[in-house]
Amino acid sequence: MKPRILVTGGAGFIGSNFCNLNQDKFEIVALDNLFLGDAENLDSKIKFIQGDACKLEDLEKCGKQFDAVLHLAGTSSAPMFMEDGFVDGYVNSIESFCRALEFARKAGAKKFLYASTSSLYGNNPLPLLEDQHVHPLNHYAVTKFAYEHCAECYNRVYPEIETIGFRFMSVYGPNEEAKGAYANIISQFIWDYARDKAPIIYGTGEQFRDFTNVKDVVAGLTLAIQHEKPLGNEVFNIGTGNSASLNDIVKGIQKAMNITQEPEYIPNPVKEGYIHGQHSDINKISEILGYKPSVSLEQGIADQVANLRPEKIRKTSSDNLRG
Ligand SMILES: NC(=O)c1ccc[n+]([C@@H]2O[C@H](COP(=O)([O-])OP(=O)(O)OC[C@H]3O[C@@H](n4cnc5c(N)ncnc54)[C@H](O)[C@@H]3O)[C@@H](O)[C@H]2O)c1
Repeated sequence: MKPRILVTGGAGFIGSNFCNLNQDKFEIVALDNLFLGDAENLDSKIKFIQGDACKLEDLEKCGKQFDAVLHLAGTSSAPMFMEDGFVDGYVNSIESFCRALEFARKAGAKKFLYASTSSLYGNNPLPLLEDQHVHPLNHYAVTKFAYEHCAECYNRVYPEIETIGFRFMSVYGPNEEAKGAYANIISQFIWDYARDKAPIIYGTGEQFRDFTNVKDVVAGLTLAIQHEKPLGNEVFNIGTGNSASLNDIVKGIQKAMNITQEPEYIPNPVKEGYIHGQHSDINKISEILGYKPSVSLEQGIADQVANLRPEKIRKTSSDNLRG
């Protein structure tokens, strides 16, 4: 029998890629309230439940018994916590996390996997290592820091369920249209060029990120689900161990789309907590889970350009909020 996996946030960017790429390995139920996700991201054979991970009755609609829960639902980027988003951002993220964790244990799951973030590291020394001291620079990162502490405590109280967090680096790939202005900068730059617009870069464009293809993220999550030795409570980086600047990204997209239009550079409007550069140390996940990133940035950008969905990007905002 295939392991039964509940994916919260399953119609979102990372969730839908996980579900679509793993439908032969696992029996998957995807739960999403479509706050940002899109049910059309999911292959039609995947069981989809529209519902809220904050509500026990919606979680229960997904089924009674699961082998693992992958919790990706939540308020998924820092700008979403600004102004009117502050209270809802915290409530949604923390409540859905606690509810899904408790549901997972009661549904007999042996593993609870959840999304943390590289934003936790802020401007820490590079490469970013799991055992570094972290001091979250924004509310979004604080929620993920809370997840990690809650998970550690929960696993101590209930050792029958393993709690495994993933500090995703800057993830890019298909199925991000519903995130609009909150999507990864690679998606946004491709969509800008597809709409004959110049991408907007904050500052010099020399800021750099550990851009990680969503296929590699899915591979890392899958390895953790399939890992047979006990993990207890763990936190892993998932990245590539490399980085690229925004200027590098633009050059890669220009090449893939055969475009020469240059980006527009504007003064960085983000005054607080801007992250200048990140790349991860991936030794821990490589040694323990056997993770190895396999998609080059060039290949990942080419795939995304080849799979552009013009009918979806027309609906998205073109205001980049990710810097
Ligand atoms: N994409 C990245 O680069 C990145 C990096 C670090 C961490 N993360 C984290 O990974 C997770 C997935 O990110 P993503 O990029 O796929 O974002 P996403 O916004 O596409 O996915 C989150 C999904 O959760 C859904 N959702 C939100 N609240 C919900 C609720 N209460 N009940 C049910 N569904 C709910 C949304 O509709 C959305 O489909 C998030 O927790 C995010 O913070 C993402």
